Amino acid sequence: MFRSRRTPTGGGVFLEMDAAKAEARAQGLEVIDLSIGASDLPPPPEALEALRQALDDPATYGYCLKSGTLPFLEAATDWYFRRYGVALDPRREALSLIGSQEGLAHLLMAVADPGDGLLMCDVAYPSYFGAARVAGLEAYLMPLGEGLLPDLQAVPEAVARRAKVLLLNYPNNPTAALASWDFFAEALRFCQRYDLLLIHDNPYLDQALEPTPSPLALPGGRERVVELFSLSKSYHLAGFRLGWALGSAQAIASLEALKAPIDFNQYLGIQRMGIAALQVPAERLRADAQTWARRRQAMAQALAQQGWPVALPAAGMYLWARLPSSLPFDDLAFAKALVAQTGVALSPGRAFGPGGVGYVRFALVQPEEVLRQSALKIGQFLRQAGA
Ligand SMILES: Cc1ncc(COP(=O)(O)O)c(C=O)c1O
Repeated sequence: MFRSRRTPTGGGVFLEMDAAKAEARAQGLEVIDLSIGASDLPPPPEALEALRQALDDPATYGYCLKSGTLPFLEAATDWYFRRYGVALDPRREALSLIGSQEGLAHLLMAVADPGDGLLMCDVAYPSYFGAARVAGLEAYLMPLGEGLLPDLQAVPEAVARRAKVLLLNYPNNPTAALASWDFFAEALRFCQRYDLLLIHDNPYLDQALEPTPSPLALPGGRERVVELFSLSKSYHLAGFRLGWALGSAQAIASLEALKAPIDFNQYLGIQRMGIAALQVPAERLRADAQTWARRRQAMAQALAQQGWPVALPAAGMYLWARLPSSLPFDDLAFAKALVAQTGVALSPGRAFGPGGVGYVRFALVQPEEVLRQSALKIGQFLRQAGA
């Protein structure tokens, strides 16, 4: 058979939801898609303008080798310095990525061998599961406890010893939880004790009203942390596929070596777009963060009015909600029936790991008014379902 043991088996829940949305559209329903975390806010005009200009510059048309990425990497390390006061070397401690998802999958392959362990949270961004499999790693799923954080002390000693990587993501997808500096300091100590690389996948850092912690900025972070960042969520440029990794020079060198036979870097015009995006003033990012905060508030309130109280997170573009216990559906059946009857599409919690069974994730990627309408439709559906 033309399939390796590491090739993930199907897109599972997401494919089922994709088919359910297509069917709802075919039945003439207007689909309100709250199932995918693709920001609907406008990208910075100056970033789009930089790309437009690059299209007219033949110097951007060829393959872009490492040295060609330096202006973008300098912009990324300057950006990090402005935010966290740590001056990184753009040549050794930074790498451009074709989105942070690509970066993470390759980073796992670059720093760990098949059979090594990966510590990750249950629940987590679905691509982590596929990336672990592709890298041949044994994922140990840490349940979420207090504050929707994993309890690192509860990881069995033998598991921690076999592991190579601790993978974290705060502000989180799907829970929208935040982690404190203290939590990251504990995570870094844990990684030091067991000689792990701490990967912090950090695409949502601008979706909080206050600056969020970055473990790379902790004392000792530069030796043991790689953080992944992205244009997708802060600048609403998900389709353009640009991210960057910062941190441990050793891990960055491994990632660069692994990627060399796989891809060339992202188109230089998109890197110039990224440079322009990274100059966007803090007030404008804050205005977007306020938009997400208003949407979280509006949706949580609208759902509560429909008899479905959900926790209000302090950051992010998601609400993570346990299904009402009176509902005669599991999360997947609920999401499919909801889209079939109302056109409102959510993500079933099980897409994010076994700990997500019985939950759904709302991606707040529609204006407040549309979110309120979708809550009304959900309320009607719940009443009809006898919840
Ligand atoms: C936690 C997390 N990491 C990475 C990504 C993908 O980011 P990118 O577009 O940079 O590949 C997402 C997208 O939803 C995400 O939620």
